[in-house]
Amino acid sequence: MKRTLVKHALASTAAQDSILIEGWVRTRRDSKNFSFLEVNDGSSLASVQVIADAGIPGYEDISRMSTGASVAVCGRLVESPGKQKWEIQATSLKLVGTSPESYPLQKKGHSPEFLRTIAHLRPRTNLFGAVFRTRSRIAAAVHQFFTERDFFWVHTPIITASDCEGAGEMFHVTTLDPLADNKSYDRDFFGKAASLTVSGQLEGETFACALSNIYTFGPTFRAENSNTSRHAAEFWMIEPEMAFCDIYGDMEIAEAFIKHIANTMLADESGDFDFFCKFVDKGLRARLEEVSSKPFVRCSYTEAIDIMLASGEKFDYPPVWGMDLQTEHERFLTERHFKSPVIVYNYPREIKPFYMRLNEDEKTVTAMDVLVPGIGEIIGGSQREERLDVLEGNIARLGMDAEAYYWYNDLRRYGTVPHAGFGVGFERLIMFVTGVQNIRDVLPYPRTPRNCEF
Ligand code: 4AD
Ligand code: MG
Repeated sequence: MKRTLVKHALASTAAQDSILIEGWVRTRRDSKNFSFLEVNDGSSLASVQVIADAGIPGYEDISRMSTGASVAVCGRLVESPGKQKWEIQATSLKLVGTSPESYPLQKKGHSPEFLRTIAHLRPRTNLFGAVFRTRSRIAAAVHQFFTERDFFWVHTPIITASDCEGAGEMFHVTTLDPLADNKSYDRDFFGKAASLTVSGQLEGETFACALSNIYTFGPTFRAENSNTSRHAAEFWMIEPEMAFCDIYGDMEIAEAFIKHIANTMLADESGDFDFFCKFVDKGLRARLEEVSSKPFVRCSYTEAIDIMLASGEKFDYPPVWGMDLQTEHERFLTERHFKSPVIVYNYPREIKPFYMRLNEDEKTVTAMDVLVPGIGEIIGGSQREERLDVLEGNIARLGMDAEAYYWYNDLRRYGTVPHAGFGVGFERLIMFVTGVQNIRDVLPYPRTPRNCEF
């Protein structure tokens, strides 16, 4: 007999004489002549209630069908007098795998901190099941957004020899033993220094300057030693890049993208979104509705500093022109001042990477960050420097290895075009649509400083 996922069983439009479901026991209650089992197979938040009368085949194992055990249930799908529309009247049971008392998810209500220590089992909880189903759906919505707009997905390399952001936060890739003497790149696998990518942007740009509109979507790695709730050493990034596009076109696509993701979540009927609104963040629905309906404010960096200086607000880091914005500044702007998503643009040149386009004032570059309530920076992007002489000047000024970037400069040498793009932190996006506060709880296996378990 063919298996039916619990989700489909519960969405049935009619009673069924014969159905097979397979899953894990959440709870069991025994009466004298029958037992109730709540069975969940992860296909949705909902578990199905199973009524098993004493004496049906397999009932002899009922006492071992404890929380966490895996079972197969054959039976009739019948109308339920309880909360759910349907329940299963079992005709036979099968114990597939037992789950002794050491099973750590016996009781509900474990803290996220404890659940992180059992990351291999936490997808079986309501919260983490909902988070990881949502992660999958939002990934599909990302591909949908770009595919509908004629963007091609480019698989940029994970191992790279160039530092995109220039912040020196790269993990080295080597086959040499770090404890051995006589190490030299000559003897290393690639014969040169190699790292895990911090961004696929530079390689992505080369494809945009051929296919016009592209995006990357894959893992990126940063060895920044910041133990915050928004930073991970391994995270996923989405990086669209558009040829013949300036910073204003860049902002439009970024805004449409965030609205598409908010709308996707608002349209979710699986039960997961309702769960987040009820149990994770009571303000979530209103926030996503606001993001979906309000135009994003555009505000230059210089204006943003002036607004904060005039606000009389006490910041841990008092705003000064020239500094990078801190999370407290970003959240002040989006949550308290504008009460809306904000795109801050034209940042001081000194705090931004080499590839951003220099403005006419020669003090600022065409950087733009999208800030959203509850998160702060969710997107960072820019129009790229398309003028070969200016770009070469930046590479020299910053003391970068000019030879390593010959291929990047070639884009400016042969048929250069104005182009722009941005990077979205995929985990920040998931935090934004679920209300989950810690990045460690939206990554299947979070990697952070001094933590690489599993
Ligand atoms: O602002 P970032 O550093 O921009 C870039 O990497 C550009 N190359 C993007 C581009 O123009 N193509 O990073 C982009 C986004 C941030 O806005 C943030 O959402 C996320 O990536 N991000 C992180 N997410 C989790 N953990 C970290 N350590 C992150 N660092 C950046
Ligand atoms: Mg940034």
